[in-house]
Amino acid sequence: MSRILIFDTTLRDGEQSPGVTLNIQEKLQIARQLALLGVDVIEAGFPIASQGDFDAVRSIAEEIKGVTVCALARALEGDIERAAQALKGAEKPRIHVFLATSEIHRKHKLKKAKEEILKLAAHAIKYAKGFVKDVEFSPEDASRTEPPFLKEVVETVIDAGATTINIPDTVGYAVPEEFAELIRFLKREVKNISKVVLSVHCHNDLGLAVANSLAAVKAGATQVECTINGIGERAGNASLEEVVMALRTRKDFYSYTTGIATKEIMNASRLVSSLTGLRVQRNKAIVGENAFAHSSGVHQDGIIKERATYEIIKPEDIGLKKTRLPLGKLSGRKAFLERLKELGLDHALSEEDLEVAFREFKVLADKKKSIHDADIEAIVIDLMEEIPPVFRLESLNIICGPNTVPTASVRLRTKDNKVIENATIGDGPIDALYKTIDLLTDVPGKLLDYHVRAITSGKDALGEVNVEVEVNGELLRGRAVSCDIIEASAKAYLNAINKLIQRTQKSPGQKT
Ligand code: KIV
Ligand code: ZN
Repeated sequence: MSRILIFDTTLRDGEQSPGVTLNIQEKLQIARQLALLGVDVIEAGFPIASQGDFDAVRSIAEEIKGVTVCALARALEGDIERAAQALKGAEKPRIHVFLATSEIHRKHKLKKAKEEILKLAAHAIKYAKGFVKDVEFSPEDASRTEPPFLKEVVETVIDAGATTINIPDTVGYAVPEEFAELIRFLKREVKNISKVVLSVHCHNDLGLAVANSLAAVKAGATQVECTINGIGERAGNASLEEVVMALRTRKDFYSYTTGIATKEIMNASRLVSSLTGLRVQRNKAIVGENAFAHSSGVHQDGIIKERATYEIIKPEDIGLKKTRLPLGKLSGRKAFLERLKELGLDHALSEEDLEVAFREFKVLADKKKSIHDADIEAIVIDLMEEIPPVFRLESLNIICGPNTVPTASVRLRTKDNKVIENATIGDGPIDALYKTIDLLTDVPGKLLDYHVRAITSGKDALGEVNVEVEVNGELLRGRAVSCDIIEASAKAYLNAINKLIQRTQKSPGQKT
């Protein structure tokens, strides 16, 4: 059975989801999990876009072995040089060059004629080949490009040395039959197509990213570009877990395998969701909370009699484990470290931070009887801050209740160790709290979204707060966890503000 290559772009296209910014430690943690998952290619970032992206690609290239590490570049020498520098430490480096080919992009965005596009693309590939052997080319907006011109572009870049040709449905416009036909057309008409891997990259604007990717596989594509949980620009990309589980569950129809260790899917999904702050919709295929929940009596009866009546995938095949016994205040360092290992988090922290994590675990265990996996994940993820935040919460006091003017007083510690404090009133406790933080940080945030949820069951559960904040037109997400949801609310808001400050300190760049 032949194999479909899985190209993961969670760290590049996925990170382009509005409001998502991952720091280097977080990106490394995701890259380690992708390697455990067995993806063939990790697209680690777009090095010219910012110093942060460059450093993340470099760290991933240096640490992650056995997997192709890829960096994105426009068809410009500067972009390609930066990608090559970031990939220096990689065992298997790939440069991914993209250039738009559709009429709408040529005319309005690039203002270039077809001949110029052909020249630029060929030059970029030859230039990239001067640095690495493995060069991928994407004709951006391929699905809206005139097929004869697309054929010409693809032939030209293969002659120039491209080793993978990726056909993006950049704006999620394609429908399955038509997209499959485009792949068949390229396989039939491009004279040198057999020299390359033919790949697809589908966006989900019409909810068809996975369907289009699978149709393309049926038509002969052998690499699929996708992201964990389907995150990505606008409505997202094809979801890795859906593509992989469709190929696996319906191998009678597709006759393909992948190298994915499917038991790592849930770990990958949870990690990406926690670190990006993008929650997985409850009824999402494969990894949603309801994906294996049967509520109707008829279904439950069927499942009890024979699981296959209503279940096409075994939950354990994607790594859904039976709940492990919770830890408690009598659990020692060994049990704690063992659990981190089982959760794949043992390499997430330095020795020093592991000690801090253990101390925090003990403090939490004093407050709450049972410590579940989600509690432990929350402790570790909170400690994965890469650089000291500019503002840290020292203390807060909230007054609220019926017939009371909600008032918040907040004390923050700044990076240079100054303590600042202020108080103000608001329409409710969160309004008062966030207004006070705005006064203290001098960063006027507009709260676009606010969610609080218990991460485990029980009244003593940790509360997780996710916020989406807009500051001067920039969208940021923040997340924090605490037994006290007001404290978590303050920390989540500060987390977003600290990210903004961190982001403005990076070198200016351009995302795709
Ligand atoms: O969607 C797209 O066209 C892209 C390219 C850079 C491959 O992400
Ligand atoms: Zn894309």
